[in-house]
Amino acid sequence: MKIEKTLHSRIKKMDFNNIDFGNQYSDHMFCSEFKNGKWKNSIIKPFGNIMFSPTSLVFHYGQAVFEGMKAYKDQNEEVFLFRPEENFKRINRSAVRLEMPTIPENIFMNGLKQLINIDRDWIPKNYGQSLYIRPFLIATNGVLSANPSKDYMFMIISTPTDTYYKYPLKIKIEEKYSRSASGGVGFTKAAGNYASSFYPTRLANEKGFDQILWTDSSTHTMIEESGTMNVFFYLKNKLITPKFNDNILSGITCKSILSLAEKEGFFVEKRNVSVSEIIEGLQTGKLKEAFGCGTAAVINYFKTISYKGNDFDLPNLAEEKRISLYFKKILLDIQHNRSEDPFGWRV
Ligand code: COI
Repeated sequence: MKIEKTLHSRIKKMDFNNIDFGNQYSDHMFCSEFKNGKWKNSIIKPFGNIMFSPTSLVFHYGQAVFEGMKAYKDQNEEVFLFRPEENFKRINRSAVRLEMPTIPENIFMNGLKQLINIDRDWIPKNYGQSLYIRPFLIATNGVLSANPSKDYMFMIISTPTDTYYKYPLKIKIEEKYSRSASGGVGFTKAAGNYASSFYPTRLANEKGFDQILWTDSSTHTMIEESGTMNVFFYLKNKLITPKFNDNILSGITCKSILSLAEKEGFFVEKRNVSVSEIIEGLQTGKLKEAFGCGTAAVINYFKTISYKGNDFDLPNLAEEKRISLYFKKILLDIQHNRSEDPFGWRV
């Protein structure tokens, strides 16, 4: 792989006390091209603009998939990735569904590890902070016909991060819009899944909600995800999450919480979750907690869930009694190398 280091590092301008997620980028980026059926020209170079034909398929038909992952530092400033092979597998599942070429493991992993090593000064040192890493694959072929591209670019960029959602969330159960449909691309990280959520999310924001609790597209009676997160409910002393299906992203944080909860002896259920059982849980007080989880968000609990114009507040528990924050600490301790790693997730 070619490596061109920047002569003008921006690290001195980076204020790690005022991290602005997604607005500050590390010095370098990784690029690899897919042309004539082959991956070539892998390079790490200074972060900068890229130029493609205005006819590139990514701009017209949204042939684009991405990943979200993080690099962490421990107290000795040793650097760790968390379950990177899961992101590698998932971006290729997304690529297959969007009729894109899969990325070879050595290109993904070498590009990732070398990039993060070169940009290691961009990884914040504090507990709970990290470098958010964004691998993505886009269709670069310049032909306007609606067919899969012949050429692609795989890239990795990164941005320092602390908390994505800054406070407990007020959530609205969606009754009209949906983020995915059966047989569609909801289980992938297709760029368009996020674009299509912006409009309903803005409508919800205007009504005072932070995020949407997405429901199934045909009946709006079954819960799927919230915002950009998977969801958990602590209902009647069971930790319940909607079972992954082709509408729901197989979240790596979600899977990790499930493994940790099973190991800790919690009653865990992966199954269909109906809106009516959540509303009943809210009305009877049997729903103790509800929270979202994801790479960017980590774990964020909900304070209010609203349905058909009625706001239901969740119990106002002390932080030390919250199962969401209990799992958040276990996860962060593993990610920052402050505890044992029972499942071998740190790399
Ligand atoms: C992630 O959690 O990695 C996501 O993909 C959310 C992102 C849209 C900020």
